[in-house]
Amino acid sequence: MAAMNKDTFLRDLLNRMTVKEKLGQLNLLTGAMDATGMKDSGDLEAKIRDGHCGAVLNVYTPAATRALQEAALTAPLRIPLLFGYDVIHGHRTIFPIPLGLACSWNLKLLERCARAAAAESAADGLHWVYSPMVDISHDPRWGRVAEGAGEDPWLGSLIAAALVRGYQGNDLSDPAAVIACVKHFALYGAPSGGRDYHTVDMSRREMEETYFPPYRAAIDAGARTVMTAFNVIDGIPASANRGLLTDLLRDAWGFNGWIVTDYTAVSEMKNHGTAATDADAARQSLAAGVDMDMVSEAFLTELPELVKSGQVSEESINTAVMRILQTKWDLGLFQDPYARCDEARAQAVHLNPEMRALAREAARESIVLLKNDDLTLPLAKHGTIALIGPLAESHRDMLGCWIAAGDPAETASPLDGLREALGNTGRVISAKGCEIHSPNDELRDEAVRAAALADVVILVLGESADMYGEAASRTDIRLPKAQRRLAKRILQTGKPVVLVTMGGRPLELSKEARDFPTIIHAWALGTEGGRALADVIFGDAAPVGKLTMGFPRSIGQVPMTYREKPTGRPFDAAMHYSSKYLDCPNDALFPFGHGLTYGELELGELQVDPQEVPPGGTVTVSVKITNPGPREVTDTIQLYLRDLVASVSRPVKELSGFERVTLAAGESRVVSFRITDADLSFPGEDFKPVVEPGDFEAMAGTSSVDLKGVRFRRLGDAE
Ligand code: GLC
Repeated sequence: MAAMNKDTFLRDLLNRMTVKEKLGQLNLLTGAMDATGMKDSGDLEAKIRDGHCGAVLNVYTPAATRALQEAALTAPLRIPLLFGYDVIHGHRTIFPIPLGLACSWNLKLLERCARAAAAESAADGLHWVYSPMVDISHDPRWGRVAEGAGEDPWLGSLIAAALVRGYQGNDLSDPAAVIACVKHFALYGAPSGGRDYHTVDMSRREMEETYFPPYRAAIDAGARTVMTAFNVIDGIPASANRGLLTDLLRDAWGFNGWIVTDYTAVSEMKNHGTAATDADAARQSLAAGVDMDMVSEAFLTELPELVKSGQVSEESINTAVMRILQTKWDLGLFQDPYARCDEARAQAVHLNPEMRALAREAARESIVLLKNDDLTLPLAKHGTIALIGPLAESHRDMLGCWIAAGDPAETASPLDGLREALGNTGRVISAKGCEIHSPNDELRDEAVRAAALADVVILVLGESADMYGEAASRTDIRLPKAQRRLAKRILQTGKPVVLVTMGGRPLELSKEARDFPTIIHAWALGTEGGRALADVIFGDAAPVGKLTMGFPRSIGQVPMTYREKPTGRPFDAAMHYSSKYLDCPNDALFPFGHGLTYGELELGELQVDPQEVPPGGTVTVSVKITNPGPREVTDTIQLYLRDLVASVSRPVKELSGFERVTLAAGESRVVSFRITDADLSFPGEDFKPVVEPGDFEAMAGTSSVDLKGVRFRRLGDAE
């Protein structure tokens, strides 16, 4: 079979298929090992035996996938099934939630994590992961910000591409590769009011400048599949949006894989009020360019009649079927449908020492040191530490949302990590203090007693894993009230306190930022999270994470981004009629790009060469950095650009380069960034990319604020 010509084989197969069997290939059904939506698929095995199912989600393990594959191979045409799953940040070994891992700004690390997740999921019978989620978002009320890379389209694009490369590798028939699924197309990260699934209403400019780039980058990196979004865009559901799915994605961007809807999104068109029946919804979806229906079963049940009556052409179904069969072929499924059902490989790969080492490295790099005013951190490994808070001993919450086959029992909590790191050089007393949402006098008193006995307190507060992710929007993103009260009480003990916040989104920490000199944001760090946290707390690893989504001062500021447009009346505290709030500064409390480390680099003045650059030329912006301190420092130098005058209003700054540097004590070095026309280009008035002559400002620093700047000029053709 391997020697057989792919096209001949697949054409012949297609010719032998009935309409119903074809629609079976377009039908994605769910198993019961996980529940990721409201509808179940009834008698899954019977549907598979009838040839009415082409792919399955929420079933994994070599044994479970083998059993269903055997059922599929009893159907008349013996077409193998493809298994997909929400492997979002690891499969058995869980890496930090995507928003956390993005804060590493370490593209190689991200790619390695995706590769590892691919190897683990493929060893568990899977072929397809529903990742990367590349939806940009400026709204931390939306719980799914946890699953994305943050607010910036340029960084988000690099991350999207790295993840796709990691999952898919170079050869899909490699039994350690899986196909990626870019989601959610499109604009899912901008629901009105931050409420999940809500209406998206966005200008074309915002789409082109901010929201589309990461999807496109993932497509350019070769992503095989795309998942539609639940939302409407200009009133049209994304899953029936021909302008998006066909005109843009396929025709303009050249996507040639297949498009799957999100969970029951086809039948949800009845709720959107754009289809009266499932038949109507299925027809619209297929016509718009959707190839596979996730769980609705509307394609399977409704399209046969429509083909019969001539309302849907069989040719359009053939096109979709061929897209899916081709990928099944490329994955090697027709050669060996059981290649990924290998118990021995699963045992060898899952949670092996290399996986754990990678998870620990990834978790360390995701931690963001928000404040360290008194240089309390790193802590010495001796004395008595009181570890307090409702998340201090949690294993489940360390894994975060979407944990695939992750197991809390295999996970290091903060307490596990601290105990292990201290060994017998010090002592940890742990006390819960309160529940996530409710106070408890007994627990509080016990925590206060623990603090009284300790030299230093580590207070672990924040969101439990069910407070973010899908269908987990919040209007109040402060720490829950019970935890704020606990924090106040612990501060009253007068002991030095390190506040560790956990959670899946930027939190509103204005009060904590006033009260606590030391704050670490630790997201949900995954399987090795507790150990990584201890590594950073004790300085075995210095923190390197940089926020990829700013933390607002107040919920009233959101949605917000550092990449804002200048307005006609830019912020001026002394000017009444300027663009500002009466009761809050405009900027973030902890901005995009922010993240401290142990030690600080000094930046010299920026140099630019040449000051005037011709079309097609390159400008080099350099900055001398020095480590004046007594220990090695690793930090990320960031480059931002501003186009000062253009035909359309441009952002006040946009990330355009970054480099992580490590400097020994006392060392100096020059860091250079090369800027070409590609960096200066933007969607012009007609939305086509354009580079306009004129003045630009280049800015560099260790976050998106407190930047040093220098100007240069891009000459026009005639200059
Ligand atoms: C969902 C999600 C999507 C996920 C899918 C399958 O409801 O929106 O991200 O991949 O279901 O579980």
